[in-house]
Amino acid sequence: MNVWRRLSGPRRAMALAGAGVLVAGGLVTIPVTAAHAATQCDIAYTSNDWPGGFTASVTIKNVGDPLNGWTLGWTFPNSGQRVQQGWSATFTQSGSQVTARSLSYNGTLATGASTSIGFNGAWSGSNPKPTSFTLNGVVCNGGTTPPTDPPTDPPTDPPTDPPTDPPTDPPTNPPGTKVDNPYVGARGYVNPEWKAKADAEAGGSRVSNNPTAVWLDRIAAINGTPDSSSNGAFGVRQHLDEALRQGAGYIQFVIYNLPGRDCSALASNGELGPDELPKYKAQYIDPIAAIQGESKYSSLRIINVIEIDSLPNLVTNTSGQPGGTVMCDTVKANGAYVNGVGYALAKLGAIGNVYNYIDAGHHGWLGWDSNFGPTADILKTAAVASGSTVNNVHGFITNTANYSALTEPYFKVTDNVNGQTVRQSKWVDWNFYVDELSFAQAFRTKLVSVGFNSNIGMLIDTSRNGWGGSARPTGPGATTSVDTYVNGGRIDRRAHLGNWCNQAGAGLGERPRANPATGIDAYVWVKPPGESDGSSKEIPNNEGKGFDRMCDPTYGGNARNGNNPSGALGDAPISGAWFSAQFQELMRNAYPAL
Ligand code: BGC
Repeated sequence: MNVWRRLSGPRRAMALAGAGVLVAGGLVTIPVTAAHAATQCDIAYTSNDWPGGFTASVTIKNVGDPLNGWTLGWTFPNSGQRVQQGWSATFTQSGSQVTARSLSYNGTLATGASTSIGFNGAWSGSNPKPTSFTLNGVVCNGGTTPPTDPPTDPPTDPPTDPPTDPPTDPPTNPPGTKVDNPYVGARGYVNPEWKAKADAEAGGSRVSNNPTAVWLDRIAAINGTPDSSSNGAFGVRQHLDEALRQGAGYIQFVIYNLPGRDCSALASNGELGPDELPKYKAQYIDPIAAIQGESKYSSLRIINVIEIDSLPNLVTNTSGQPGGTVMCDTVKANGAYVNGVGYALAKLGAIGNVYNYIDAGHHGWLGWDSNFGPTADILKTAAVASGSTVNNVHGFITNTANYSALTEPYFKVTDNVNGQTVRQSKWVDWNFYVDELSFAQAFRTKLVSVGFNSNIGMLIDTSRNGWGGSARPTGPGATTSVDTYVNGGRIDRRAHLGNWCNQAGAGLGERPRANPATGIDAYVWVKPPGESDGSSKEIPNNEGKGFDRMCDPTYGGNARNGNNPSGALGDAPISGAWFSAQFQELMRNAYPAL
């Protein structure tokens, strides 16, 4: 999976223009608060603690006059409490006093409106909640959480480590009503099967309470497959029941069983042949839809990630293209991918509390405009196939199971060295994007322009794109040439952007959280860290999984990765199976660090 295709020929600057518009929009400055406005606020502060650390969420409800820019302040009761890394606000701490300032996109708060911010913190001694808050210097009367009445607005961002007790926050949307961003104000379902594997690893409990997606990678997964090496015993219903028991607000599934699956690679080939669309519909999608649609589950936000690595392959990996395959030709010609995705969207999207996000590759695959626009077009074609409409698409996800850096802090696509653009460097290779966040935001704009709804949101899989650890550069590369500059400064340490299997040196990325950036509904962990991308040598199995040499550390590559080494770790089991050595390395190289 996660194929990449190198491009040749001229590429126009269309994609970059889209990104420019978006960035400019994000920089709009906001006028300061009117001098005599009556400020009043309700603050809900929750924290999830573990020895020495915690994640806190703070929801600010404006119960006074409309606000244009806000500054929230509080004093930690204990001198050992520190904010370490925050989101959705600019945090500063002096002694025990913390200040959180609004960002350009969340400073405007109408009367009655709420916004949530959060941070990871450290504590020693104890970790009591602050008892008083100020907003723009005025003490909030609403008191601290939990409010005694049921909250009328969504609770805070999902904690990265949910408490073990059942939560007190009730589900926030009436059954059947889709909210704009299903991740906001909802705690993520922690898959107990993944958690058990992570907990069995030394140090694994530091991350095992994060929500990860449940992959429905074969028909048998619908009812659970107790004897499979790469799938759990829980079926869809058991996961949903467990989500209710956990008091989760949302649960994530991956719909991953298209006919002729993974047409350009071998490691994740599936059980259905290219002509088995009727079976896909009747024996895979229909039963999943029947279960997800049960009224018992209507209070859960059920998120489906639709068919990883499928539609972009029809653009970049048909025969005649470098590395193109006959299987991709077949599923393009017979419509299996387009009609399968359309059918899944229509069936699942018809359920009021189900949210579909279609897979949209990653920047190292689609960041050239010869791939960017055509992929947006084929996504649109699929979204209106098999009786579906764009209304069945809540958004898109990028970087699923890939390793592309979220942001490259030490070089930008617009940088020049000695009069040459970094786009000329070997690493960037004329791509219009150098990281996943800028790509996802620009692709969102493009998708809206081809006819998707203007309120779609993007997800980014950050499960394994952290690139921390000792090999992480701490500043830009030398300006000797575009290549020294980019190679010395890039935090993505792969040999080539086309490498996708069990990458050596990778780390856990941003922890799952809602609303992290403009246009992005959430950072998510869809690929469960520790589950292999593919075996490093041939391993017989009954799951249809092949051996792809991109998972073999001794392989010297092909046209699609610029004939570079695969960069894969050795001794890997088949895709989906637990790979302890990789999990340990991901934790060691986590960024932000654990
Ligand atoms: C595999 C699936 C697995 C998923 C999550 C995919 O590469 O093909 O079987 O469930 O990864 O680990």
